[in-house]
This record gives sequence, C-alpha cells and structure tokens, in this order.
Amino acid sequence: MQLRVSVIGVGYVGLCTAVGLASQGYGVIACDVDAQKIDKINLGFSPFFEPGLREKLSECIQRGTLRGLVNQIDRVVAETDFTYVTVGTPSKPDGSIDLTYIESVAVNLGRALKQKSGYHIIIIKSTVVPGTTRNVVLPILETESAKKCGVDFGLCMNPEFLRQGSAFYDTLNADRVVIGSHDKHAGDQLEAFYREFYKTCIPPIIQTSLSTAELIKYASNAMLATKISFINTIANICEKIPGADVKVVAEAMGLDKRIGSQFLDAGLGYGGSCFPKDVQALIACSEAFGYVPELLNATERVNKQQPRKVVEFCKQQLGTLKNKQIAVLGLAFKPDTDDMRESRAIPIITQLLAEGAYVVAYDPVAIQTAKSIFQNSVCYAVSVVDCLRDADCCILVTQWPEFEKLTPQFFKNHMKQAILVDGRRVYDPEIFSKTLKFSTIGLGQ
Ligand code: UGA
Repeated sequence: MQLRVSVIGVGYVGLCTAVGLASQGYGVIACDVDAQKIDKINLGFSPFFEPGLREKLSECIQRGTLRGLVNQIDRVVAETDFTYVTVGTPSKPDGSIDLTYIESVAVNLGRALKQKSGYHIIIIKSTVVPGTTRNVVLPILETESAKKCGVDFGLCMNPEFLRQGSAFYDTLNADRVVIGSHDKHAGDQLEAFYREFYKTCIPPIIQTSLSTAELIKYASNAMLATKISFINTIANICEKIPGADVKVVAEAMGLDKRIGSQFLDAGLGYGGSCFPKDVQALIACSEAFGYVPELLNATERVNKQQPRKVVEFCKQQLGTLKNKQIAVLGLAFKPDTDDMRESRAIPIITQLLAEGAYVVAYDPVAIQTAKSIFQNSVCYAVSVVDCLRDADCCILVTQWPEFEKLTPQFFKNHMKQAILVDGRRVYDPEIFSKTLKFSTIGLGQ
C-alpha cells in the first residue's frame, strides 16, 4: 500500500516537499495555520513565486493527490502515515533560534498521536539547532501522547537542502538525503520511502543520529556562507591591488577540484531566509556550549560590510548623494524569487535614503514585497527603462538575467549621468568602462 504523507507548515520547504511528493503520486495533505495560504493552494495557486511550482501544484490539486487543511493536525495524523514538520524557525533578537512554532506543533502532534492506534512517523524537516529534536520535540511528543517514541511512533530529523529559485527541481533531484533517527526502525522506514520515491536515481542516503543530522544542515549552510565571505575578502584585497580581478582569481581557484567553482561569486554577499539566520543560530548554539566560533563570526562581519561598499562607490562617483536620483536594479535576495528576506537591497536602500538620495527601484517580481518594506519612501519603476530614466547613478543589486543582457549604450541612453555600480560582477569592466563611469566589486583599478 502506498504511504500517505502530511506536511505541516507550507513555506518554501513545506510546499515544495508536499508538491514534490504529490507529483510522484503520493497522497499528500498540506496543513498550515494560515487559512488564506491553504485556500490559495486548494484553488491551485502557489502563495509565493517559485519557478515551475504553480503548474505542478495545480496539476496535483486537479489529480487529487494534494489537498490543503487549515490547522487540523488531528486529522492530518489520523489520515496519513508520515508527517513532515516544516514550520519556520526564526531568530530571536540575540540570533539564537526561536522554537515557538516547533513546540506548538509538537504539542498538537502529541495530542493527535494519543488518538491514533497505528504507528506513525514524525519527521522534523525544519532547520533546528543540534539537540532540538531529541531534547525538545521528543519529550513533548511523549508527554502529550502518553506513548513511547521508538515503540508507538517514530521520530526522524531529515534536513532540507533545496535552494529558492530552483526549489522544486531540488526536491526531485537531491545531492544527498540525510536521515537522523531516534531508532533504527524509523530511520529504515524513511530510507525505504526515499528509495521508492527516487526510483532509479537514488542519491546517497546517510543515516545518522538526530543531532548529527541537525548539525549537517547548519554546517552545510555555514560552509557555503563562509565560502562567499572568503571570496568577498579576496575581492576586498583585489580592490587594493592595481590590475587584480577577483573574477579571474575565483575562476582559477575553482578549477582546483578540492575547492570547486560554486559559491565563489564575489559581490554584495549573501541574503535570504537561511544563511544569515543559520550562521547566527550556529554561533549562538556553539557559544551556549562554551565555544566561540571565530570563523563564523568573521563570516557574518564580512557579509555585513559588503552592501556598504556599493554606496561608497556611488558617493565616490557623485560626491554627495543628497538629492541625487539612484536607480536600484533588483530587490529580491537572488534571481528567480520574490523573497526579500535579508536581501542586500534593504541595507543599500536604507543607507541611500539616510544620505538623502531619491531612490527608484525595479525588480521583475519583488515590487509588491518591497512595498511592504519601504512603503512610499521609494519610487517603484515598472521596467528597467523606467528605473533608469533621469538617474544620476545605477546600482545593480540582483543578477536577474534581464539585467545581464543590458549594454553600456543602453544605460547611457536612459540615464542622466552614465554612472553604473555593478554589485554582482555581471558586466565586463573592460567594455563597460569605455562608455560609462563604472565601479564594481573586487577590481583593482
Ligand atoms: C541556501 C542553500 O544553498 C540551500 O542548500 C539550503 O537548503 C537553503 O539555503 C536553506 O537553508 O533552506 P538559498 O537561501 O535559497 O539556499 O540561496 P542560495 O542560492 O544558497 O543563495 C544565498 C545567497 O548567497 C544569495 O543572496 C546569493 O546571492 C548569495 N551568493 C550565492 C553569493 O553572494 N555568492 C555566491 O557565489 C553564491
């Protein structure tokens, strides 16, 4: 009999997991406290922009393999065999992890398990600091259900490695599957499920303890974030050395198989809902255990400095920013998403406004999100041309493909002053600096 699956919390990870499983024919229930989100899903619409997701979601709703339920964890447990927990784990003001949602879902899951006679597996997919599943989730489940973990129900920790912008693809094409389990039976059941799900293309599956699985997630994100801050450090050194170019340095470094070419794009640094939050949570968790992770602190510091640099470049070119019109191209934290959480656009625009500049911003999909952040302190353009019109300087913040195609002449034709600051190393400095006043990250002039 095919297993039935439920997913609690339909953010990026939850919805992509739900749609990924439903697209392979599994019966999936997606559950969330947000009735508006669930209504949208049941009508076949995605609550957020993610390439390919909407089409698959609507297909699954039509085929009946996916349905949404508002806040009915008892039904979710009764009607399925596995439940993924994919609720948010935001940061507290001190950077440590806020487990409020995890705890409240665990209480409801425990109560639902109490009512169920058969075996059920709970799978924590939310990113949680090492020790959480064993020391927080497990006791709540056992207390509320009055049942024994490993006997009456199973508990696993299965971190997610999908990237926004290619989330749906990543769900179906994982590099590896990590399964932390409380007991071997639950781990083996989940492994068998993934072997069936991936059919002929089974990625490496690592079974381990709950805490190791939790740490694998943080270590992976911290490594990627550190790689970005490392190349940005090299970029900052390059800027001091005439003739040095970080792009060429990164290309050559990346050819060393031990280093690899990915995540060596120097620029404004990392944003998004994961890297900043996860690096901070790992620092806080490590410090709570009595170890100060110097390297991770430096990763964070370097990342915070990067956005200030492009505003400095602007000032060097214009003298003062007061009453100058600055065009900002790109608001999303990276291309192919409308997500602006921790986007580098936020500190950049905030600083430009503080210096008295008039900001005109454009993004292919994130304008609505930006409006909720900046309200009417920023002017929102409807196209690139509209954004550049009469601008004194342009800053490229997000490397959307439509911006990569722009020519130096295009900028010159539409701006008041032909000054461009490339925050993502998208444009060829040799070509662009012939036509424009051009500054970019990691180039010794
Ligand atoms: C990241 C990880 O890549 C995923 O594996 C992980 O599952 C996810 O976090 C998560 O924890 O849920 P994501 O936040 O979607 O995924 O975005 P990335 O593509 O990793 O990019 C993060 C930020 O780093 C972006 O702002 C991007 O512009 C920046 N970046 C990336 C660089 O500045 N340079 C690079 O070379 C690569």
